Amino acid sequence: MIRVIVIVIIVAFIGIQFVPVSRTNPPVTGEIKAPENVMDVLRNSCYDCHSNENSWPWYSKIAPVSWLVVSDVNEGREYLNFSDWQSYSAKDKAEDLKETWEDVEEGEMPLWYYLPLHPEAKLSGADKETLKNWVQSGGPH
Ligand code: HEC
Repeated sequence: MIRVIVIVIIVAFIGIQFVPVSRTNPPVTGEIKAPENVMDVLRNSCYDCHSNENSWPWYSKIAPVSWLVVSDVNEGREYLNFSDWQSYSAKDKAEDLKETWEDVEEGEMPLWYYLPLHPEAKLSGADKETLKNWVQSGGPH
């Protein structure tokens, strides 16, 4: 019986690899403009979910994890996409900027389960300070 269950699980695991998922990287139409030190922080910690330049790591290619990653990236881009920043209204830009700092301050971003696999994306005190100063000085103009 155990053997049958194991075989069913293996077959199912192989089967779900064939479910199509779209890991897209659409063209970058209007990237946000910020000083290089701010861009470094955003690229390091946020771009995998909030840009069109995702790195799509190996685990994003293995179902069912890939489903979670693709859905997070799609959702993340919908809320905030630094690659499309120039197309946002002044009001949206101001709101996104405010939330960017609030989410970082509260530790909500980057998403916690992303960090164990991407320790380099964890924000240091200095990274947070960089973001804070940038947002409080009015961010990109
Ligand atoms: C692993 C993917 C991932 C990473 C990395 C990530 N985010 Fe997000 N982000 C999301 C998702 C998914 C949402 C939408 C759902 C939610 O709020 O949890 C979101 C939402 C947001 C929002 C909108 C929240 C709101 O309340 O409307 C902001 C602002 C944001 N992220 C900023 C950032 C910043 C800044 C970074 C980098 C320091 C970052 N995120 C890194 C996935 C990510």
